[in-house]
Amino acid sequence: MDPARWAGSVAISYRPPRPVELADCALVWYSAVDDYMARLGRPLPSPYFDPLLALLDHLLTTDPERFLVAVRPATPGTSGAGSHAKEQVVGFGIAAQREHVWFLSQLYVLPSEQRHGIGHALLSQILPSLPHGSGSAAGSAAINVQAPEGSSDSSRDRQLGVLATCTDAAQPASSGLYARYGIVPRMPIFNLVGTPKMPSVLPPLPPGIEAVTFGRSDPSAAIDAIDRAVLGFAHSLDHRHLRASGRTGFVYRASDGEVLGYGYSSEAGRFGPVALLDETLTAPVLGHLITAIKPRGATSAWVPGANDRAMVALLRAGLRIEGFPALLGWTRPFGAFDRYLPASLALL
Ligand SMILES: CC(C)(COP(=O)(O)OP(=O)(O)OC[C@H]1O[C@@H](n2cnc3c(N)ncnc32)[C@H](O)[C@@H]1OP(=O)(O)O)[C@@H](O)C(=O)NCCC(=O)NCCS
Repeated sequence: MDPARWAGSVAISYRPPRPVELADCALVWYSAVDDYMARLGRPLPSPYFDPLLALLDHLLTTDPERFLVAVRPATPGTSGAGSHAKEQVVGFGIAAQREHVWFLSQLYVLPSEQRHGIGHALLSQILPSLPHGSGSAAGSAAINVQAPEGSSDSSRDRQLGVLATCTDAAQPASSGLYARYGIVPRMPIFNLVGTPKMPSVLPPLPPGIEAVTFGRSDPSAAIDAIDRAVLGFAHSLDHRHLRASGRTGFVYRASDGEVLGYGYSSEAGRFGPVALLDETLTAPVLGHLITAIKPRGATSAWVPGANDRAMVALLRAGLRIEGFPALLGWTRPFGAFDRYLPASLALL
């Protein structure tokens, strides 16, 4: 696809961000989300950008070739804090490639610049190139779409690759834009928030199952194996980022030493990711995570609709559904979301 075809405005150009422009990307994110949330009567609270800036910095390190900003020549007073004096960041897109799964982490365009093809142009330039030779990125998605749903042939899955993302159910433009590439919204993800009033309703860890903090061992190899079995791909660099951002991880070990899963919580109240080989451990593991780390405020978890055990456990513990669900979309199935809770909507 020729990006110029989609650019609409002649003055827009696309390039990797300079590190100082991450702050401008955060401002674009805030304006874009606040704009549609305000129209729904739910404007965003005052911005607190530290977690987003840490994530953007992480993704600029892991996926520099999949991080683009859309810039236009600045008119006086429009260039952001981090911008090159002569340019204004008006949109940005980033994808994280983890083994065979390409995950669109962020795509945002300033409200005043939307519906002119900038989002489309950013997306088309960060999509993976066709594995089978000629054609466009959209063609790559088409190959994925035509592959049989639920195929158990994992080597074929790995060869073809998967495109995936999370969108907000309240925002049809993004869902419609991605679905054109076959990244069709297929599963709701609910934000459960609150102070668990009744953690005691959750069962304790079964006898013989031990929770071990990551700091006491290097569980990387076991975690990679669990991620491949549950999420479909390993992503050790993201685990490192989560731990550096204040999340505390535990592995859950059987008495013979076998690692059955892992889970994260944090003092900031952010829960996840949680990945379990055995779904019957869901409620006990969530109960352990809730009591092991005392958050300063509310606990917040993203729960896929397929993970009915986590939904039931966290609702019974006293959390409530907040806002509209997000939608997880993909070109081909890749994860066992009945046994997984993502870290966030921007990084599974
Ligand atoms: C989503 C977003 C990045 C798109 O950027 P944009 O520059 O406005 O998008 P474009 O003009 O390139 O393309 C718009 C496309 O959205 C799709 N679209 C818009 N409204 C739609 C609807 N109601 N139903 C289906 N598709 C729709 C169409 O494919 C449309 O392309 P077309 O006009 O050629 O048919 C931008 O609107 C935005 O930042 N929105 C708010 C934040 C957000 O939701 N970001 C995504 C988070 S996952």
